[in-house]
Amino acid sequence: MSATLTSTDPATRAAHLLAQMSLAQKLGQMIQAERASTTPDDVREHHLGSVLSGGGSVPGSNAVSDWVAMNDAYWMASVSTEGGRLPIPLLYAIDAIHGNANVLGATVFPHNIGLGAARDPHLIERLARLCAEEVLATGLDWTFAPTLAVVRDIRWGRTYESFSEDPAIVASYAAGYVRGLQGALDDNGVIACAKHWVGDGGTTGGVDQGDTALSEEELNHIHMTPYRPALEAGVLTVMASFNSWNKEKCHASRHLLTNVLKGRLNFDGFVVSDWDGVDQLGDDLSDALATAINAGVDMVMVSLDWKRMLTLLHEVVADGRVPMSRIDDAVRRILTVKHRVGLFERVRPAERQWANSPSFGGEAHRAIAREAVRKSLVLLKHEGGVLPIKPGARILVAGKNAHDRGHQCGGFTVEWQGTHGNDRIVGGTSIWEGIKAAAPQAELSIDGSAANAAQHDVAIVVIGEHPYAEGMGDLRHGGSVPRGSGVQTMTNLAPYGSSLVLAQRHPEDLATIQRIQATGIPVVTVLISGRPLVTTDEMAASAAFVAAWLPGSEGAGVADVLLGSHDFHGTLPFGWPAVDEGAYGRSAPLFPRGHGLRVK
Ligand code: BGC
Repeated sequence: MSATLTSTDPATRAAHLLAQMSLAQKLGQMIQAERASTTPDDVREHHLGSVLSGGGSVPGSNAVSDWVAMNDAYWMASVSTEGGRLPIPLLYAIDAIHGNANVLGATVFPHNIGLGAARDPHLIERLARLCAEEVLATGLDWTFAPTLAVVRDIRWGRTYESFSEDPAIVASYAAGYVRGLQGALDDNGVIACAKHWVGDGGTTGGVDQGDTALSEEELNHIHMTPYRPALEAGVLTVMASFNSWNKEKCHASRHLLTNVLKGRLNFDGFVVSDWDGVDQLGDDLSDALATAINAGVDMVMVSLDWKRMLTLLHEVVADGRVPMSRIDDAVRRILTVKHRVGLFERVRPAERQWANSPSFGGEAHRAIAREAVRKSLVLLKHEGGVLPIKPGARILVAGKNAHDRGHQCGGFTVEWQGTHGNDRIVGGTSIWEGIKAAAPQAELSIDGSAANAAQHDVAIVVIGEHPYAEGMGDLRHGGSVPRGSGVQTMTNLAPYGSSLVLAQRHPEDLATIQRIQATGIPVVTVLISGRPLVTTDEMAASAAFVAAWLPGSEGAGVADVLLGSHDFHGTLPFGWPAVDEGAYGRSAPLFPRGHGLRVK
């Protein structure tokens, strides 16, 4: 191969570069290290292909400019030509799964479950575009979104990351989400990552990282369906899933990663492993690594000890457990993606046109997120013409989630497990603040003790769950699941609770509703939750009941609909349970998927 190349074809350029690389450079490209354990010098010295931020892992004071400065330093290290070093720009990745919500001041839009209720694929593309701009503002290039999980048991802690239990609804969003993020594969877009391949939403009992016991036909029909439009739209990366399929970990499945994804479905981007997912494949980490790479993992995501992983990668290549052809294939894929988005032509993060863009968290973005909130609300009960509430009415606002922007944003917001209170969600409005802006005479009494029928015409009570992420959101008995069947121990992941019945986990909510109801004031209940819940008692005590999911930073969107400037639009993306049973189709729902009332 000649030293100069005139072709602009990304694959040709990648092959040309590959031919010039040392083994150390190749293996470095296959490592994605977490920022807290990685310096720019590490990137330069070990030729790391990528750095990531885990949930809540942030630089400096978590301002946009801190992010730009951080990635600028990593980038400059990756493209250093010091001592004849081969410059290969790195990719920095983040979980921007409902906006670039790790970052203070971001526009946080509803989690996917609410977007599923909106049934609006065009809206998804606009939100994804908004998200891309807010990721670009921080100088980063890659987001681990969209989640294409088809959740079949709502006890799973990640239910809110799923658009729906229905593969067709999830599939209807996949292409628009990818297009909105990736754009024209130039420096106006970010790389998308469809996750988690595959069957993440299908585990028995909804256990996080558990086992999905299905025939291949069912796996294909239910869980692979949304990936087809994502792949057709050109999604450049796919993340392997923590779950097992019929007791084999997806990270170890050559069939799923190579034969199906890269073979049958023709995926020509690269596969990244999930957070230390390789470590789960066995007690001997080098064997686990060899298994994952041979199965088809191209880039290894490591939380802490990426140096050890890199050493082991050298070891498994040296002793022949992983053939050089597999390494070359993995690196060629990574480099091709980098070329396809023009990474080699990009200027340093600090000098990019989008860096520190004022559109980050700006009014135009918040208006789109607010529209998404309006469209995501599902009206489940409406009696006595209590809605819409007249803006001039004497409104009492109550409930522990009424004035808590952290709670309404849910997990993966500022922190991995989300945040409490209003201080760390900079910008936006709590639901209370939205109501107050439209109806200045409204009064706030969190526990409802100020309720007085002589002074209040109607009460809005905002109740529900606290933020959670991943296994900490599971509803199951016991703190751990058994090992030995390819299912990871979860002793450090205590679940949220064991019941879908809200009153069992949060009796204070029903108490607040009943306290107000007892005074004779009609109650409009708004539920903040990452999934449908058994709320029969709360509904019975309410004149109207609204599922608001996890609306994000723009609580004013809830006020827009309750106060009638817009009508309800959303319909259930999941069946609503009548009893404490989370598995899809196991018992008759109280309301079927697709249910949703209108007022006007
Ligand atoms: C999650 C992924 C996420 C990754 C990086 C993992 O724990 O399963 O969805 O992208 O962490 O933060």
